[in-house]
Amino acid sequence: MATGILGADVNYPLLFSPLAVGPYRLQHRVVMAPLTRMRADRSSFAPRALNAEYYRQRATPGGLIIAEASPVIATGRGNPATPGIYSEAQIKGWRDVVEAVHGKGGLIFLQLWHVGRVSHSSLQPGGVLPVAPSAVPITGNGMMAMTADGKVMPYETPRALETEEVAAVVEAFRQAAGNALKAGFDGVEIHGANGYLIEQFLQSHTNLRTDRYGGSIANRARFLMEITQAVIDVWGASRVGVRLSPYGVANGSGEADPMPLYSHVIQALDPLGLAYLHFIEPRSSGAGRAEVNHQNVPSAMVLFRPIWRGVLISAGGFTGESAEAALAAGHADAIAFGRIFISNPDLPRRLQHGFPLTPYNRATFYGGEEAGYTDYPEYGELEPA
Ligand code: FNR
Repeated sequence: MATGILGADVNYPLLFSPLAVGPYRLQHRVVMAPLTRMRADRSSFAPRALNAEYYRQRATPGGLIIAEASPVIATGRGNPATPGIYSEAQIKGWRDVVEAVHGKGGLIFLQLWHVGRVSHSSLQPGGVLPVAPSAVPITGNGMMAMTADGKVMPYETPRALETEEVAAVVEAFRQAAGNALKAGFDGVEIHGANGYLIEQFLQSHTNLRTDRYGGSIANRARFLMEITQAVIDVWGASRVGVRLSPYGVANGSGEADPMPLYSHVIQALDPLGLAYLHFIEPRSSGAGRAEVNHQNVPSAMVLFRPIWRGVLISAGGFTGESAEAALAAGHADAIAFGRIFISNPDLPRRLQHGFPLTPYNRATFYGGEEAGYTDYPEYGELEPA
């Protein structure tokens, strides 16, 4: 620990050192993880002033925020009140969010999302079934869909996309990437994690296709690679990140033998010159739904760092100390924080100075207004103990 500005103790010299990400220079490596909060406008799915305030609170000069997963098309929605990136109203709403973050010197990427089968017909335009690579529903203990009015129901059997329809989904990602550019974002992250549509294509238990998008690993990876290329066409590779969750279990995820699949995918992405690759550590898979700390699981960053030459961000159950240790070991270049960024809007400063953290309240993670969203105090605002 060293003495820094204003005489305060300063922790974690690596976490608070600069990092080049594509054309940007981060001033520290405490990244805000993408976090679904379900507080967009309930009918237009456009971000509101409340959302801009939430992101503004969490912005720091040269700090990277990855904004919450945002459906690229109406059929890609799986929850009520998640902000989209497929309409003019949504682009406008996001522009206000981006301006709020830029106003504090922060950087902000948008996570591009299609949930596939992790949806419910009540959330789909016209009440049709959700789409997926194959007609395989999510089953298993406690696995429930959320309906448009926030109820929980068993998952329906999704409708398998026709081969010709797959190209339209790729185009939706391209269009959404263009919308994110119009909204002024600094880049985009492709959501290839947590059992959503891209991962449903990647993994063999959810992809039973016999066309060029199914079967071999290369075929199952084709959808992700086509989307990545489409988004690169819009943004240039150096402003595009990809998020993956190898060995994850969220939303009915689970490849029997993840090593060959993810080795292939990462080696296929590596030469593209992306801004970064972003992992969710398997120990924290499903942290959005429950307090998890899976034991005896591998570490994604430790396993795959050797085959990824670009910037690597990892997330999942990190503390300041374990983040610094991961950087020191060379396992990752930056660390994304999720749950503790919800309850600590000034998380980088608190970590840097060893200030105590405010615990989060899971009951207010999803939906609602200010409570549990924009009302978490900064450290200096806390009453002295
Ligand atoms: C998440 N997570 C998540 N991941 C993602 O890729 N896109 C998303 O929109 C969300 N949404 C989301 C909402 C909430 C409320 C939670 C708690 C989590 C996963 C998140 O980005 C992160 O990987 C995990 O929370 C693990 O990191 P922490 O929380 O242990 O730092």
